[in-house]
Amino acid sequence: MKEWYDKINETDSVDALEEIRIALFGKKGVLAAQFAKMKDVPNEQKGAFAKELNAHKQNLMNEFSAKKIVLQTQALQEAMKAEAIDVSMFSTKSAVGALHPVMETMDRIVEYFSSMNFSVKTGNIVEDDFHNFEALNLPKYHPARDMQDTFYFKDEMLLRTHTSPVQIRTMLENKPPIRMIAPGAVFRRDYDLTHTPMFHQVEGLLVDKEGAVSFANLKFILEDFLKYMFGDVDVRFRPSFFPFTEPSAEVDISCVFCKGEGCRVCSHTGWLEVLGCGIVDSNVFEAVEYKDVSGYAFGLGVERFAMLIHQIGDLRSLFEGDIKLLEQFQ
Ligand code: DAH
Repeated sequence: MKEWYDKINETDSVDALEEIRIALFGKKGVLAAQFAKMKDVPNEQKGAFAKELNAHKQNLMNEFSAKKIVLQTQALQEAMKAEAIDVSMFSTKSAVGALHPVMETMDRIVEYFSSMNFSVKTGNIVEDDFHNFEALNLPKYHPARDMQDTFYFKDEMLLRTHTSPVQIRTMLENKPPIRMIAPGAVFRRDYDLTHTPMFHQVEGLLVDKEGAVSFANLKFILEDFLKYMFGDVDVRFRPSFFPFTEPSAEVDISCVFCKGEGCRVCSHTGWLEVLGCGIVDSNVFEAVEYKDVSGYAFGLGVERFAMLIHQIGDLRSLFEGDIKLLEQFQ
């Protein structure tokens, strides 16, 4: 019987072990054959013979079971290795992107004015002093320049502080009538909850014959535009000052957070300032040599619109590039 212990021990596969099981413990197997020999054994030796054979049977079964567990475990481990999925692999699945809330807001603004037949101009981000200030009735000594400190290069070149220079470029390149908007990035030396060094504006300019453009025209289009952007809000015009318009106004909408009741966002006034506008100053027309014309202009900050539409508290969060944060505004 001894060789069968060795056979069991030396097997290296579950299939080979199964063959041994049949050969050893099967109906026509080795053990059955041994037990069959009982009848030829003299009676007085039968007891010892059976005892020894049963002991072998028991031991062989124990060896067999132990070996079976070892081989099955080995087979399982090999199968797991072969079928393993490498979870560290990069996923090639690409997520669907979306517009940044500032760009989405800008698109809606452009959409409105395009529908009103305004053409879209871009101008230059790196501007010169003439287009950014001088031609807009902001001479060098003018105190209104203080609010628009920016980043300067050599030769009076600078990062534009507003989109208003696009008014000048468009008028210098075209004859009246003009009906344009200028969306784009602008730059100032500011950084707090509601200001970043780079932000976006949309400028508007309409020029036609002398006497053809009135403040009433300006009021109408801006009211219509603000209701398009913010829904059913009240709109009010407050007298103000801009060097390039006379008269000038700042435009407020009733607070979108408290519906005009008064809250922290509107400083308990019930109103939110959203843009500046006015009738184009005659000095501006003079700078571009336009004669016998009249016009209106306006300018707004796109981030401010996006913040009010999406109820964003800190403007700077828009530029941190945090996808989790930006996904909330889709
Ligand atoms: N350029 C102004 C600013 O950045 C905004 C502005 C106000 C533009 C009145 C205009 C305007 O065209 O008429 O603060």
